[in-house]
Amino acid sequence: MFGRVAPRYDLANHLLSANIDRHWRNHTVRKVRDILQRPQSRVMDLACGTGDLLIALEKEAGRQLIGSDFCHPMLAGARQKLTRARLKSSLVEADGLSLPLGDASLDLITIAFGFRNFSNYHGGLVEMRRVLRKGGALAILEFTQPPNKAFAALYNWYTRRILPVIGGMISGAPEAYKYLPESVRKFPEAPDLADLMRVSGFEKVEWEYLTFGIVALHIGRV
Ligand SMILES: C[S@@+](CC[C@H](N)C(=O)[O-])C[C@H]1O[C@@H](n2cnc3c(N)ncnc32)[C@H](O)[C@@H]1O
Repeated sequence: MFGRVAPRYDLANHLLSANIDRHWRNHTVRKVRDILQRPQSRVMDLACGTGDLLIALEKEAGRQLIGSDFCHPMLAGARQKLTRARLKSSLVEADGLSLPLGDASLDLITIAFGFRNFSNYHGGLVEMRRVLRKGGALAILEFTQPPNKAFAALYNWYTRRILPVIGGMISGAPEAYKYLPESVRKFPEAPDLADLMRVSGFEKVEWEYLTFGIVALHIGRV
């Protein structure tokens, strides 16, 4: 599914979110700036897709980072964009549930709109915790259920009725845009995700809603 949407993924993202997705990623970069600016910190953007967050992170850090995804066509898109922007980050094809990294080898993992797709949330969190070292952090940017019931009803109508039609027309893969609202409904609500992070070994877990609670940013420390 991700391979099919990859060629038009960026266009669909920016149109369907009215470009707000750029603001969500830039906000995430600001929130992890302390670790990005630590000299020699090792940073991986997991489920990096076509690399938008990775690019924003590298521009802030001013040095080579790592992007990782299990979908080759997404990584091919990321490679093209990195080359065009004259950036140096390396790309690794890997499953977030089984990372090809040693214990305590990274200082920061970011993951934007990727974690919801993992087949095992607890397993994914434990794996990310394993590769982070003391003083490190995990930042999860993800769609969530808006807390305001009236707004949630309107938003759910948009994501069920409008988004699959427009997303399908742009990407040529309507099933991917039917899957999106279904996967958000199955995903833990923001307070529950914070609890899951805590039981998976993360400390000082903080989270915030963005854009009326369409999206949440969770940060857990190690
Ligand atoms: C909606 S895209 C998000 C891409 C990018 N992070 C962004 O912000 O645009 C979700 C990405 O998660 C990747 N993904 C899903 N499950 C994964 C897993 N278990 N391991 C690695 N990547 C995964 C997909 O291949 C896809 O590129």
